[in-house]
Amino acid sequence: MESQLSTQMLISPMLIIVLILSVHTFAQEDMQFIYNGFQGSINKLHVDGITTIHSNGLLQMTNHSQQLSSHAFYPHPVIFKPSRLSFSTTFVFAMVPQVHNISGHGIVFVISPTTNFQHTLPSQYLGLFNNSTNGRSSNHIVALELDTVQNLEFKDIDSNHVGIDVNSLKSVDAASAAYYSDKERSNKILLLNSGKPMQIWIDYDEVEMLLNVTLAPFRDPKPSKCLLSKHLNLSALLLDTMYIGFSSSTGSEAASNHYILGWSWNQTGKAQNLDPDKLPPLPQNKQQKLLFRNIVFVVLLIVVILALLGIAAALWFLWRKKYRELLEPWEKEYAPHRYTFKDLYVATKGFKNSELLGVGNFGKVYKGILPSTSRQVAVKLVSHDSKRGMKEFVEEISSMTRLRHRNLVQLLSYCRRKGELILVYEYMPNGSLDKILYGKDNKSKLSWSTRFNIIKGVASALLYLHEEWEQVLLHRDVKASNILLDAEMNARLGDFGLARLYDHNNDPRTTYVVGTVGYIAPEVTRTQQPTTSTDVFSFGMFLLEVGCGKRPIGKQSDNDDEDFFLGDWVYDCWKRGEILTASDPTMEDDYQEKKLELVLKLGLLCLHPKAKERPTMRQIVQFFNGSTTLPEIPSDYDIDSCIFFEEG
Ligand SMILES: *[C@@H]1O[C@H](CO)[C@@H](O)[C@H](O)[C@H]1NC(C)=O
Ligand SMILES: *[C@@H]1O[C@H](CO)[C@@H](O)[C@H](O)[C@H]1NC(C)=O
Ligand SMILES: *[C@@H]1O[C@H](CO)[C@@H](O)[C@H](O)[C@H]1NC(C)=O
Ligand SMILES: *[C@@H]1O[C@H](CO)[C@@H](O)[C@H](O)[C@H]1NC(C)=O
Ligand SMILES: *[C@@H]1O[C@H](CO)[C@@H](O)[C@H](O)[C@H]1NC(C)=O
Ligand SMILES: *[C@@H]1O[C@H](CO)[C@@H](O)[C@H](O)[C@H]1NC(C)=O
Ligand SMILES: *[C@@H]1O[C@H](CO)[C@@H](O)[C@H](O)[C@H]1NC(C)=O
Repeated sequence: MESQLSTQMLISPMLIIVLILSVHTFAQEDMQFIYNGFQGSINKLHVDGITTIHSNGLLQMTNHSQQLSSHAFYPHPVIFKPSRLSFSTTFVFAMVPQVHNISGHGIVFVISPTTNFQHTLPSQYLGLFNNSTNGRSSNHIVALELDTVQNLEFKDIDSNHVGIDVNSLKSVDAASAAYYSDKERSNKILLLNSGKPMQIWIDYDEVEMLLNVTLAPFRDPKPSKCLLSKHLNLSALLLDTMYIGFSSSTGSEAASNHYILGWSWNQTGKAQNLDPDKLPPLPQNKQQKLLFRNIVFVVLLIVVILALLGIAAALWFLWRKKYRELLEPWEKEYAPHRYTFKDLYVATKGFKNSELLGVGNFGKVYKGILPSTSRQVAVKLVSHDSKRGMKEFVEEISSMTRLRHRNLVQLLSYCRRKGELILVYEYMPNGSLDKILYGKDNKSKLSWSTRFNIIKGVASALLYLHEEWEQVLLHRDVKASNILLDAEMNARLGDFGLARLYDHNNDPRTTYVVGTVGYIAPEVTRTQQPTTSTDVFSFGMFLLEVGCGKRPIGKQSDNDDEDFFLGDWVYDCWKRGEILTASDPTMEDDYQEKKLELVLKLGLLCLHPKAKERPTMRQIVQFFNGSTTLPEIPSDYDIDSCIFFEEG
């Protein structure tokens, strides 16, 4: 008995202490709190209705269903008495209407003696009262309504207002939603149901007995002027402990998603600012999503189109560049003679190596088949790098297309590109003479009579260029490799006139001898001045080449180190009185001695060191005709010394 009593006596003071302590800590805790988003708070809030907390911390109170009312309250009561009536609170909310600008009904911040709102009504009652409880002084409810519907029954001022409610939905004070912009020093209207987050501050001072309400767009600082400032004596209204939280309702005609993003409460000082970056973002609504998707789609489409256009432009540019030609106004009069580069590109399969016929002094020569006419042509790519003299040269080229001689390779046309001149000639199926003359396989094609025919042809062509054309045209590079053979093995002189390209291209002060070593007349190295006689010199070397089947200079045999000069050698043979021993042994003795001798001797005469002593092309043709007899070869000149060097 005694022990029982003593334990009872012991327990009761302990209980009292525990109770005091718990009330004390309780009070301490509840003087202030802050929710920067409501992550994980579903069990720490007292909620009803369809209130949910999204995983990102967004507190949603209503959705687009009509006639809803929902509540979310801080779970513990807060202590207002004695003398703790002052408070400061701020929260960020958003109202996202189902249809733009049509919404219902509103959000209310509530200070209430209870969290039980079982018998309340939605719509204009905002989940706070029912038709019989509205306006009762026993309600002990202080509320701040954010109302988006004008209800004449409660004398609402408009459909976008903020009102202070005491026990009744008939506000004791209200104002259209607006804020004071400190920057612009003016009031600005805010549309509560714009779907954008906004922040509201509610401050009450028990000494001044002023309830201040301030509104601003989210992320704006608190304006210096408040929207509502109402004198209110809350001491009779508020009970010792009260619950604080939110009520929200949708209407019977329209509904909104009502969200609370964050909330802070303080009874010991100003409510701490919410951290805007910690607050949860609002979900994108369907229209926004659709709009966003459309924008993304359009942007992607534009990007893709631009990219395609870019690629197309690049391809077009490359295509243009690939086939770009030069055609200057002055060239128009020659334009009829031109082929397009594109045609020539197609004709030569893009200047493919497999179509290469040969590489000459002036550039590469390709075989081609013109796409329009299927005509076989030889396409010569000549590189040139200066504009200077181009006009004269093109004039000449153009005039050369008018050259007509059965022993000239016909120049058909030309085309000009940056740094490139393209000449189009007749195609010669038997290729160049040197290939046959020095090749192993086709030598049998070159019988004496063929050779003599070739020689006469070349002579005739040179005569035409020197004397029979409207102006004197020098060839400047007569040699076996510039003699082409047509299908009947007739000689066709090629590359005429191209030497002028060097004249036009190069600085006149620089010295450049056009021609091929071994064929260049000795005086050219001194004077730089080509003449018909220098062509005759080259022709003389060509005569010996064809008659002897040997190159102008080279080695006597593969293992011989000593240089061999064809002119020298034939001259020696002639001096010994055995000129025919110099003849090409592969001619199989079908040659006519007299004519072969004529060819070799004429060759020696053409190599005369003194230009004046050489015969002219007209004389040469006459020698071949037999209408003039060949003069004697002077026995006092040394051919050896004149192949490279000027006469002594
Ligand atoms: C609103 O929420 C309730 C409860 O979650 C749900 O049954 C209803 O379908 C929702 N309404 C809309 C329009 O989403
Ligand atoms: C939206 O609502 C406001 C307030 O009720 C009103 O002044 C405005 O004219 C409305 N706008 C549209 C587009 O309906
Ligand atoms: C109104 O609410 C009170 C209590 O909150 C309840 O007793 C009463 O029945 C309700 N009246 C109606 C009409 O719903
Ligand atoms: C409240 O509403 C109920 C049901 O709509 C109705 O029966 C009752 O008469 C109303 N009471 C008052 C006081 O208006
Ligand atoms: C309320 O606003 C008035 C001026 O509008 C100001 O004097 C007063 O200090 C404010 N009170 C609180 C608690 O913010
Ligand atoms: C405020 O209300 C209480 C209770 O009704 C009253 O005792 C007090 O005098 C009032 N204060 C002022 C300044 O009116
Ligand atoms: C409450 O006010 C006090 C004093 O100004 C301040 O130290 C405290 O951080 C505030 N707490 C909250 C949660 O606002």
